[in-house]
Amino acid sequence: MAEVADRERRPDPAASADEVGDFGFPGGSEGSRTAPGSVVDMARRGLGTGSGVWDFSWPREGTAIWPRTSAGSDGSVPGGSAPSLIVGSPIAGTPEIGKTDGVLDLSPDELLTTTRAVRKRLDLERPIERSVIRECIEIALQAPSGSNTQRWHFILIDDPETKLGLADLYRRQFELYEATPEPMYGEDDSRARRQVAVRSSARYLADNYHRVPLILIPCLDGRPDRAGASMVMQASYFGSILPAVWSFMLAGRARGLGSSWTTMHLAHERDAAELIGIPYDKVAQVGMMPVAYTIGTDFKPAPRRPLDDIVHWNRW
Ligand SMILES: Cc1cc2nc3c(=O)[nH]c(=O)nc-3n(C[C@H](O)[C@H](O)[C@H](O)COP(=O)(O)O)c2cc1C
Repeated sequence: MAEVADRERRPDPAASADEVGDFGFPGGSEGSRTAPGSVVDMARRGLGTGSGVWDFSWPREGTAIWPRTSAGSDGSVPGGSAPSLIVGSPIAGTPEIGKTDGVLDLSPDELLTTTRAVRKRLDLERPIERSVIRECIEIALQAPSGSNTQRWHFILIDDPETKLGLADLYRRQFELYEATPEPMYGEDDSRARRQVAVRSSARYLADNYHRVPLILIPCLDGRPDRAGASMVMQASYFGSILPAVWSFMLAGRARGLGSSWTTMHLAHERDAAELIGIPYDKVAQVGMMPVAYTIGTDFKPAPRRPLDDIVHWNRW
């Protein structure tokens, strides 16, 4: 497995198609293009975006570092062709934000369309600064929650023993999932084409979960699985945490971090709660995410179902 893993961890789009996507961003996602009017663009021009909160300043504007570990001392890009990281993005008035060294120069649309489920391209060796994680969570906390309740908790696990325990719970369920028949899609359905790659990528994560530098378990006060929980209650419950977690993943992607939503360990949620000390009756886990710097940052949009199949105006 280790040999396969090493081979597959190359930042080669063909090596892990499910994480890179099959087609490029219009205009290319690999340059340092900044969309006019984007947060990044406005930040670079010192304009802010009108909210007052996103008031970036750029102490070392335009300094590209790529990859962070191999950039020259002046931040120059070896080879010059990889996406650039722009150093420094402090946000005024938010003490935790802006302490870390850089964010990727992605337009909002690029960020939204290239935040993939990353598994094989998680850098298992590179540690993550806690300040970067705190920054991502601070951004995530701007997400909506029902009645502004903000009953979320972000549990971060970097203790090796605990990671091993969680990975074991995950793998137990993954093996059952892997033994189930794959969903049947039509031949021309993009999901069919990606199925093998997604399964292979998922297997890689199941084998290596304990090796990721950080595991995130997002939680929410209360339990959504009480008997008779209404649709309103369930939708409000999950809707009060999932946007924040997705924001965390987007903020991470902007900082060179990758992740993948996973839910399988929830089959053993009570065991995980005991392992971590979560009061199971009062607080529910909603997922588990590996978090690591990515190997390369050249992620691309993935094939998705045709818009016309899923968009409905006025009637179903
Ligand atoms: C609710 C949910 C549960 C998921 N559970 C798992 C999981 O348990 N294991 C896993 O490897 N990926 C899991 N995924 C990741 C999906 O496989 C992934 O989002 C999907 O294949 C699309 O990937 P892409 O955005 O990179 O194209 C989950 C995603 C969601 C939204």
